[in-house]
Amino acid sequence: MKILVVGSGGREHAIAWRLAQDAEEHEIYCAPGNAGTLDVATNVAIKADDLEGLTAWAEAEKPDLVVVGPEAPLVAGLVDALAKVGVPAFGPVAAGARLEGSKRFAKEIMDAAGVPTGKAEVFTDAAKAKAALPDYGLPVVIKADGLAAGKGVIVAETTADAEAAIDDMLVGNKFGAAGAEVLIEEFLHGEECSILAMVDGENAVLLPSSQDHKRVFDGDKGPNTGGMGAYSPAPVVTSDKLPLIKEKIILPVVRELKKRGIVYRGILYAGLMVNDENANPHGPLAKSGSTVNVVEFNARFGDPETEAVLPRLGGSFATALLHAATGCLKNEDIVVKPETAATVIVASGGYPGSYEKGMSISGLESSVASPSTIVFHCGTAVAEDGGVRTSGGRVLSVTGIGANLREAVDRAYGQVEKISFEKMFYRKDIAHRAFERG
Ligand code: AMP
Ligand code: GLY
Repeated sequence: MKILVVGSGGREHAIAWRLAQDAEEHEIYCAPGNAGTLDVATNVAIKADDLEGLTAWAEAEKPDLVVVGPEAPLVAGLVDALAKVGVPAFGPVAAGARLEGSKRFAKEIMDAAGVPTGKAEVFTDAAKAKAALPDYGLPVVIKADGLAAGKGVIVAETTADAEAAIDDMLVGNKFGAAGAEVLIEEFLHGEECSILAMVDGENAVLLPSSQDHKRVFDGDKGPNTGGMGAYSPAPVVTSDKLPLIKEKIILPVVRELKKRGIVYRGILYAGLMVNDENANPHGPLAKSGSTVNVVEFNARFGDPETEAVLPRLGGSFATALLHAATGCLKNEDIVVKPETAATVIVASGGYPGSYEKGMSISGLESSVASPSTIVFHCGTAVAEDGGVRTSGGRVLSVTGIGANLREAVDRAYGQVEKISFEKMFYRKDIAHRAFERG
């Protein structure tokens, strides 16, 4: 198959890499890609948000499939534009991507479909929002409706912090149009996990579970990031929960969208809060009464979850993606290998705040041809001298694969230790929750 992967991060490198592992040989392109995707694909110099450029390329080159990595082009309607020129794409149309693009819309769909989630209300008036706070107790969650680069969610421990967050969004216009509507949401106790479901408009197949590490420092300290590491499977998602997640969360959402004329194809990523008595004996149950509640939906593969999940898939990945994109996904399209995977993000000093770019990376050559470790590139570029330089905050995503989690984690860190660049840092405690469970 001839396939274009849109995006330039670790997620897109992992998608292109996994396509290259298929038994069939593919012609793989990545737009714009990075220094790592060059190993498995041909990079095309078109940015992921250049909808016109991407559509023109697809119309001229006629790929069998376009796989869209990031949310911005999905929300902007790339899949709709590709459909107009007759090119099948893996990813939802803009109307479906609103599940990620508008937290208000996501809540509306969940309420209509009876999906368990935190109780929430939407406000445009700061005084009314503040007046509602006592109904929610503390902590309480304040969310900007729209996309705010991961910064639009405030977990407030005090009423003063909650009021300040409301004022920032509704009075101070901190997130512009994305914060013109604000949700006040019940705080959910428990342990988070990610479920990526592959959806073809009607049916869904769950990919293996995973857990992300959102905070920048060890012990889940410091500001939120795009994700500092992941592992798969996540033991918090016990096998008895999978049918519940599919039947009570994923499928009702897909059906509710279809009722509204939206055929959702691609990944439906459910960020879930799990709270069962064994996992959290002191945590109060959510108002929904469910042990699994939706924290958020994303309309795409997670990053870095993808770098831990895709190495665990067998079978033909291209076929699975094409079947989902064209409405004929089958359970057999997803084959899961028994191995465990752990991914460590290697970041540039200062991330998620400001950081330098252009640092020379050494130790990458040792990553070639090892079946148990894979170095995915997130923010890298090839310099004029042919060397690989940093070009982003999250620089590399190093995955270890093993018979068990300990082996996978040790292999990932063993590889990370061979790599160096100025001001590099990484979390040393990836998968700590799984190890604490014993
Ligand atoms: P979101 O962008 O909605 O995923 O929110 C970012 C992070 O905020 C989540 O990964 C959670 O850690 C936290 N969060 C969001 N909503 C809630 C909630 N209702 N209860 C507890 N934590 C939440
Ligand atoms: N790792 C979180 C996300 O992709 O949204």
